[in-house]
Amino acid sequence: MARVLVIGSTNVDLAVRVERHPSPGETLSARTLHTSPGGKGANQALAAALSGADVVFAAKVGRDAYADEALRLLRTSRVDLSRVEVVDDPTGTAFITIDDSGENSIVIVPGANGAWRPEDVRTLESAIADAEAVVCQGEIPAEVVDAVAVACRAASTRFVLNLAPVIDVARETLTAGDPLVVNQHEARLAADALGIAPADDDSEMIRAVVAAGVPSLVLTRGADSTLLVSADRVDEIVSCPVDVVDTTGAGDAFVGALVAKLADGADTRDAARYAAAFAADTVTRAGAQESYRRG
Ligand code: RIB
Ligand code: NA
Repeated sequence: MARVLVIGSTNVDLAVRVERHPSPGETLSARTLHTSPGGKGANQALAAALSGADVVFAAKVGRDAYADEALRLLRTSRVDLSRVEVVDDPTGTAFITIDDSGENSIVIVPGANGAWRPEDVRTLESAIADAEAVVCQGEIPAEVVDAVAVACRAASTRFVLNLAPVIDVARETLTAGDPLVVNQHEARLAADALGIAPADDDSEMIRAVVAAGVPSLVLTRGADSTLLVSADRVDEIVSCPVDVVDTTGAGDAFVGALVAKLADGADTRDAARYAAAFAADTVTRAGAQESYRRG
């Protein structure tokens, strides 16, 4: 089985369902509150495991009851949690508001996820060398993601960067992402960080990002399509229509599934086609990890 190392965040998601998002200063009543495991790193680790990869998850949790809930589904899914460290800060939490159209807004409290230090990456060197692919997201400090990119280069291990949310990583980290996986908003910020002038046309913008040195780029456009760009080609994968219940964690489902297939030797197009179907299925059910099914 292909080995994937996910280095990133784990949260407990506190999700409320409301008819519509509140305006500033407004008080609304939610229909439900649901507590479940989340965090972009943990979500990707679960999606990769359900997609057949042998997954090691490196993360930090607090000395609290939320730590158990945060890791609950990873525990029952054969994910190697020996690189999860317990620290003094509280387990990360995410406050999620989901409206009737399935759209969410999220406020995260990093807690333990913010306790990562670049020196921690040294203790992961053997795990990085053993992996076919390593994936990071933007919910741990940028200088840690920079250190992971450097360590991957030294070990000749594929580095996948999901710049979600966008953090201030070094230019060399952006151009190490193979692929760099972003949505449209993140792509614009990444282009800006690389000194690329804004463009209305997505494919023009991401071609410029690849021309600036990023080996390959995957642009997720939700219900629309996914664009794949490398130095010599652009491909589009059209999304299949689904009944949207909750989009929370769908992007993470895509990234985890994509990395699992890439690590297994699939080409980017086949991997992205599989990942798009895996992710589309998750939006038909509530929650992030709780909506993921074996691919
Ligand atoms: O991408 C979805 C995730 O973002 C949620 O699970 C939440 O924890 C936040 O990290
Ligand atoms: Na979902």
